Amino acid sequence: MNGRKKVAVLISGRGSNMMSLISAAMAPDYPAEIALVLSNKPEAGGLQRADDLGIKTAVVDHREYKGDREAFERAVNAILRDNGIELVVLAGFMRLLTPYLVNEWRERMINIHPALLPSFKGLNTHERALDEGVKLHGATVHFVSAEMDDGPIIAQGAVPVLDSDTPDSLAARVLSVEHQIYPRALELVASGKARVKGQRVAISGGSEPSDPTFLIAP
Ligand code: GRF
Repeated sequence: MNGRKKVAVLISGRGSNMMSLISAAMAPDYPAEIALVLSNKPEAGGLQRADDLGIKTAVVDHREYKGDREAFERAVNAILRDNGIELVVLAGFMRLLTPYLVNEWRERMINIHPALLPSFKGLNTHERALDEGVKLHGATVHFVSAEMDDGPIIAQGAVPVLDSDTPDSLAARVLSVEHQIYPRALELVASGKARVKGQRVAISGGSEPSDPTFLIAP
């Protein structure tokens, strides 16, 4: 397919969401190609997985920038530009971003967070969901804005919280939903169907119940 958007996936760890995106992008009619996987950690397991699939990888080790977050981001951005990247997908990229990178990629950078935003921003979302006794938990794909885990929501997936759940069992159920909604959300963004309108994301053609902007898993 011509005009596939060139995507960079930014990771810090095992890269299971990255794998779900790579696998979706193998479909010939998918509107994006994963052109680059970049990590701030040389030891991130996802780098090897991407490399094994013949995808270009890069490392910008944040520790070499000694706390200068913007200098780190400038180095990341230079690589994104050099590779002709058009969309940036954060998939377990464990760095707080400065306004510099957020503004460089405004409305062209998306993130996945393992909770139903705006609930449970930040870390340890599954433990906190269990502590609060919520009955539904899940994951959210959103455009990245200056605030952490904030920005217009593209897609959400919900899972029931079971009495027997531990943080690990809940995390596994949420992760499975992440792997379904992230490729769908990227598809909507790369095809230009999902557009930011103020605080909301409008899907061109309107949202039908069958639209892939939400998912409720059994
Ligand atoms: C996922 O739970 C994602 O929601 C969060 O970090 C985790 C990354 O997992 N932002 P993986 O590296 O994609 O397996």
